[in-house]
Amino acid sequence: MERVAAGELDYTVKIDTKDEIGDLARAFNAMTTDLAKAKKELIDWGHTLEEKVEEKTGEIRKAQAQLIHSEKLASLGRMAAGVAHEINSPLTGIVTFGHLLLKKFPDGSQDREDIEVIIEQANRCSTIIKGLLGFARATSVEKGPVNINDILNHSLNMVRHKADFFNIKIVLNLDESLPPIKADASQIQQVFLNMIINAADAMDGKGTFTVCTRKVIENGNPFVEVEFTDTGQGISEENIKKLFEPFFTTKPVGKGTGLGLVVSHGIIQDHGGRIRVKSNVGEGTSFFVRLPFYEG
Ligand SMILES: Nc1ncnc2c1ncn2[C@@H]1O[C@H](COP(=O)(O)OP(=O)(O)O)[C@@H](O)[C@H]1O
Ligand SMILES: [Mg+2]
Repeated sequence: MERVAAGELDYTVKIDTKDEIGDLARAFNAMTTDLAKAKKELIDWGHTLEEKVEEKTGEIRKAQAQLIHSEKLASLGRMAAGVAHEINSPLTGIVTFGHLLLKKFPDGSQDREDIEVIIEQANRCSTIIKGLLGFARATSVEKGPVNINDILNHSLNMVRHKADFFNIKIVLNLDESLPPIKADASQIQQVFLNMIINAADAMDGKGTFTVCTRKVIENGNPFVEVEFTDTGQGISEENIKKLFEPFFTTKPVGKGTGLGLVVSHGIIQDHGGRIRVKSNVGEGTSFFVRLPFYEG
């Protein structure tokens, strides 16, 4: 008993007589065995508790980071909408008066070329502003039942006759039995067009572009998944992390604004869906857009 009291909880006595002392010894041994077991359980429990706390802390940290990210985007969106609104009218003025001025100079003169540059640059600002307004989603949204295959076909028809697509093979694999989704068709089209144009840019005029639609189940809920796969240059690990950051672009000035994916992400999130990316440098990229179905 002294040894047990000193902490040696699994100590057993070796007395095996048939009298009361024997009974006492057996009871004592049973008690020390139980004690040792209970102590071990307590220790194990402590460990699992530590693991659980660590796991939960990780989850909370992640949720917090996500919250900060979406708050950042929200305030940036509000600011962008304000700035875009303020800048839009003077820009329209620059372009309008630029065109008026053009008429005063003969074709081919240096002055005329300079004014054309002014107009071109102002138009570029306009494009950025349109992107910003889309980012802030200041435009009105109307969600109704729409067929996702129709939006895809329509988006593809808008671009497939452009020179960038002449030597790109477009493979369509659409599930014709898909129920409608609840969406704002023009916003979803904006997302799809950005995916399609990004793919064409990455393929540099050649390769295969595959678009598939399918039904998937996520956490017991049905979603439609649209897959855009290109055989383009791919995206490095480092750049994958920056894809959805405002103004991230690897394209030359005049071609990219770095707002397409931010806007797309916002739109898809607003529709209760999400976007995922898989890419291998030198092989190509797949974007997966998931959207919930229309319910009544
Ligand atoms: N399919 C793709 N293949 C390779 N890179 C891509 C693809 N889609 C997007 N990216 C990369 O993501 C960047 C951001 O895309 P986006 O937000 O649409 O802006 P932008 O097209 O104006 O550059 C692109 O500049 C490009 O580097
Ligand atoms: Mg883009």
